[in-house]
Amino acid sequence: MRVLVVGGGAREGALAWKLAQSPALSALFIAPGNPGTAALGSNIAIAVDDIPGLVAFARDQAIDLVIPGPEAPLALGLTDALSAAGITCFGPSQAAAQLETSKIFTKEICAVAQIPTAAWARFTDLDQAHAYIHARPAPMVIKADGLAAGKGVVVAESIDAALEAATAMLAHGIHGAAGAEILVEDCLTGPEISFFALCDGETAIFAGMAQDHKRVGEGDTGPNTGGMGAIAPPRLHDPDLLSEAVMARIIRPTLAAMAERGTPFRGFLFAGLMLTPTGPQLIEFNVRFGDPECETLLPLIEDDLLPLLAAGAQGALDPATALSWRAGAAATVILAAKGYPGPYARGMNIDLAPAATIPDLLIFHAGTMQRDGALQANGGRVLAITATGPDWRAAIERAYRGIDAIDFPEGFARRDIGERALIGD
Ligand code: AMP
Ligand code: GLY
Repeated sequence: MRVLVVGGGAREGALAWKLAQSPALSALFIAPGNPGTAALGSNIAIAVDDIPGLVAFARDQAIDLVIPGPEAPLALGLTDALSAAGITCFGPSQAAAQLETSKIFTKEICAVAQIPTAAWARFTDLDQAHAYIHARPAPMVIKADGLAAGKGVVVAESIDAALEAATAMLAHGIHGAAGAEILVEDCLTGPEISFFALCDGETAIFAGMAQDHKRVGEGDTGPNTGGMGAIAPPRLHDPDLLSEAVMARIIRPTLAAMAERGTPFRGFLFAGLMLTPTGPQLIEFNVRFGDPECETLLPLIEDDLLPLLAAGAQGALDPATALSWRAGAAATVILAAKGYPGPYARGMNIDLAPAATIPDLLIFHAGTMQRDGALQANGGRVLAITATGPDWRAAIERAYRGIDAIDFPEGFARRDIGERALIGD
């Protein structure tokens, strides 16, 4: 099978690494890829938002399956454009991608499918939003409806903070059209987990759970990032019971509601869940794999992913399929450029060689470039270091051995990834 992975981050590096092990693979292309994926397949200089360019390449190269990594091409209709050209894609249509591109769309699906989620209201009018906020208890959550580069959610600890966030979005337009309509939500509490399913429009297969660390600072402090590290599986009282409950109460009803309205969902479905004292509640959907969750989960999956993704793209997943999981745990720690998620420099040299001898360590490139014969930083999140081990402690320790061995003085990592999973050891 000739496969095109779309994206250039560590998530796509992990997908390429996993697919490269498949006996069913005959050629692997990554657009645009990165210096890490260059060792696994052919990097193609086409940007993720160049939909005509990606379709033309897939057609000219007789690609059998396209696997998009990030949401941007999905939101722009990559799957639809490929489908019109007769090319199979494991990703949702633009209409189904609304599960990520519109938070109000998701809430409406939740209402139809009776999915547990925080109470909410929607506003385009600032006075009405303010009146509602005054009538609710703090804390509460203010959200821009559309995609806002991960900055569209404000967890407001006080009524004043909530009023201010609503004003910034509705009156000052800080997120432009994405914030022209807002949601005001009740605040949920509990540990947060990332939950994944492989979907073919009708059938969903459980594809793992992970715990991300979104804040830049240790102890979950500081601004939000794309994710500073993850562990899998999360430490849970009864993971099997939870995964069955989430598949039954959240994932499958969503798939049924999406099919019912004529926008069946194919691709990776990522549910952000809050494990509240009264059970799991949906915070949000993403229509793609998580990053860094993908780097953490794929090394634990024993199955060949390629036939599954091909079946998913064709609406032919066998509902009896259950993935096989490697025993033990995995941890991913992100090495970021100092300053991230604020302004940061590029072009600093990185030497990976000292980490190359550490067993069970995977180095995925997130924001790097090859220049003047050296590997250099070229992004906020620069590298994702994943280790597996017989338990959380072993995986976490090995990931930090990798982080410490890499020579990148201008980089930093959170030092407490997975620490909560070790409580009680
Ligand atoms: P983002 O990934 O930028 O959409 O950030 C959303 C984050 O805001 C989630 O990961 C949660 O930590 C938090 N959040 C969103 N909705 C709620 C809610 N209803 N209650 C509590 N926290 C929430
Ligand atoms: N790590 C969270 C995300 O991919 O959105």
